[in-house]
Amino acid sequence: MNLKEEILKLKEKLDVTIVAHFYQRDEVFELADITGDSLELAKKAMLSDSKNILFCGVGFMGESVKVLSPEKRVLMPKIACCAMAKMIDGDYYDDSIKTLNDAGIKSEDILPITYINSSASVKAKVGQMGGMVCTSSNAYKIIEKGLKSGKKILFVPDRCLGQNFAKKMNLTSAVLGDGTSLNDADIICYNGFCSVHQLFSVDDIEFYRNKYEDILIAVHPECDPAICDLADFVGSTSELIKYIKELPVEQKVAVGTEYNMVNRLRTKNTYILSSTKPECPTMNETTLQDVYDSLKLLETEQEEPYLNEILVDEDTAKWANIALNRMLEL
Ligand code: 13P
Ligand code: SF4
Repeated sequence: MNLKEEILKLKEKLDVTIVAHFYQRDEVFELADITGDSLELAKKAMLSDSKNILFCGVGFMGESVKVLSPEKRVLMPKIACCAMAKMIDGDYYDDSIKTLNDAGIKSEDILPITYINSSASVKAKVGQMGGMVCTSSNAYKIIEKGLKSGKKILFVPDRCLGQNFAKKMNLTSAVLGDGTSLNDADIICYNGFCSVHQLFSVDDIEFYRNKYEDILIAVHPECDPAICDLADFVGSTSELIKYIKELPVEQKVAVGTEYNMVNRLRTKNTYILSSTKPECPTMNETTLQDVYDSLKLLETEQEEPYLNEILVDEDTAKWANIALNRMLEL
């Protein structure tokens, strides 16, 4: 029996649902029961009948599943950490609030919104302050709802996502620590970023436009505002997939997002918008062997917690759940 067959057999025996983000390696993505972007995965994993979820993605995604479905056992073959999510923790969050307070903005006048790419502890802090989570697919709606509170929005941790949506909604934005006036901004962005989505440059866009006159440029909103301003289409993972699949086959498109996903989208006329391969290093950590090893451990190991089981303490889970549910209710 080959590794893939062994995995399928163990999965059935142990009542495991395998969940994989679009950025996973092909070998892992192909055998998953549930695939999707971060929002779809959180929702679909909640609805799964299995007791055990084997989550192939990055740590904050596994944590979100555990927070939304505490009765499930969530295991990750690798607890790979999203580099952007790592840029903020509870202490950095508190420091950011203090910076706003020092600028004369009171805590009760701040409505925090955290991108789903953040730890459960940051989501919990946001939940405690009345705030909510967003993803790249629903950021517009969530910010719109946040603005209705009449408060100033603190957007963490992705500077680019915050700035791109502020522009799209004709709002003013400032970045913490870059010297811009915080008091004049509708949205104050934390200065985090995704190193993978920072790889796409204005030169890359110019290169493709010079080479192919009619090429379209499609990018993820985690790219720098200078890139999003020049693109023909800016969309979340799922929006990019839909946009590209609906293009006529002869239409060339250069895409600015993670390599694995772009590579399996369309066989012809699709280009990676970079001379460097934009692979997310942590999303790529999980291999088929890791999936097999995790299942084998679940089969043989009696003592809990299991290696790489996702656990979130009760208080953090309670508040993170509130912040996530404020998003899901929309
Ligand atoms: P999505 O919310 O589009 O799945 O994005 C997650 C992510 O990590 C993008 O880099
Ligand atoms: Fe995090 Fe960027 Fe990887 Fe997405 S692509 S998981 S934002 S490091």
